[in-house]
Amino acid sequence: MEIVSTVATMQQRVSDARAKGQKISFVPTMGYLHQGHLSLLEEGRKQGDLLVLSIFVNPTQFGQGEDFEEYPRDLDRDAELAETSGVDIIFAPMASEMYPKGYATYVDVEGITELLCGASRPGHFRGVTTVVSKLFNIVQPQVALFGNKDFQQLAVIRQMVFDLNMPIEIIGMPIFRENDGLAMSSRNVNLSDEQRQQALVLSRSLATAKRLASVGDIDCREIIATLKKSISAQPDARIDYLKICHQRTLEEQTRVDSDSVLLLAVFFGKTRLIDNGFLLG
Ligand code: PAJ
Repeated sequence: MEIVSTVATMQQRVSDARAKGQKISFVPTMGYLHQGHLSLLEEGRKQGDLLVLSIFVNPTQFGQGEDFEEYPRDLDRDAELAETSGVDIIFAPMASEMYPKGYATYVDVEGITELLCGASRPGHFRGVTTVVSKLFNIVQPQVALFGNKDFQQLAVIRQMVFDLNMPIEIIGMPIFRENDGLAMSSRNVNLSDEQRQQALVLSRSLATAKRLASVGDIDCREIIATLKKSISAQPDARIDYLKICHQRTLEEQTRVDSDSVLLLAVFFGKTRLIDNGFLLG
């Protein structure tokens, strides 16, 4: 396994691989790897001949006052995990390599970026689509893997790839959870023990909503009201959003159907966690 930090070297490795007819699979991350990331790498290993992992805490997707500084980082630990997952190349550039002085170009997907996380975090998706476009140009993968954990992000990436005719297959992967149900996230380490316990209300809410929908309680307002009560009962919880939306348009629904996804974003203290799941089927 090789760790590459410059764009020029990464592009050289890619052109060598392509000349040999190798298929490149790619998993973009911000590092501090956990089992969720590793499940993407495992699938990525099967999908391509050259597996590239990027680790880059992307400053342009963090807003003012967000946790860019506190975001956990540990490249040595990540490199060990990546090696055992069969990664061929880690691309881990410095911010100045990705955004040199005079940098001026951004990619903006309209519409679905204005809802949910986009409404709470203005500019967030512009940062995501910009960095992912750049990474796609640098790594030139045939296949890229993303988690359903960031449901809206995956929808935004699919829209961008479609609209900009990027010749890349996007594979969405299931949410990987701790044994007690908490969705794995690099941010989980920033929770206190008490907040970690309280955060279980997210996966419990998904289970409750699924149960209600399965017995025919499909009024979205009623489901949301029930969930709000149990989430608000957690002393450190502050709801950012809690919505039932159509899986493709991400527009809010009034009644649950087979396209309904429950999407949650809740702060526990200063740590913002997200989770989601389909309600029927
Ligand atoms: P990051 O949060 O590190 O996530 C990298 C990838 O891992 C994303 O596709 C995310 O959906 C996936 N992932 C995270 N937790 C997961 C879990 N519990 N189960 C399955 N997959 C999971 O998402 C980003 O980084 C950044 O926004 C990025 C796309 C790299 C752009 O900077």
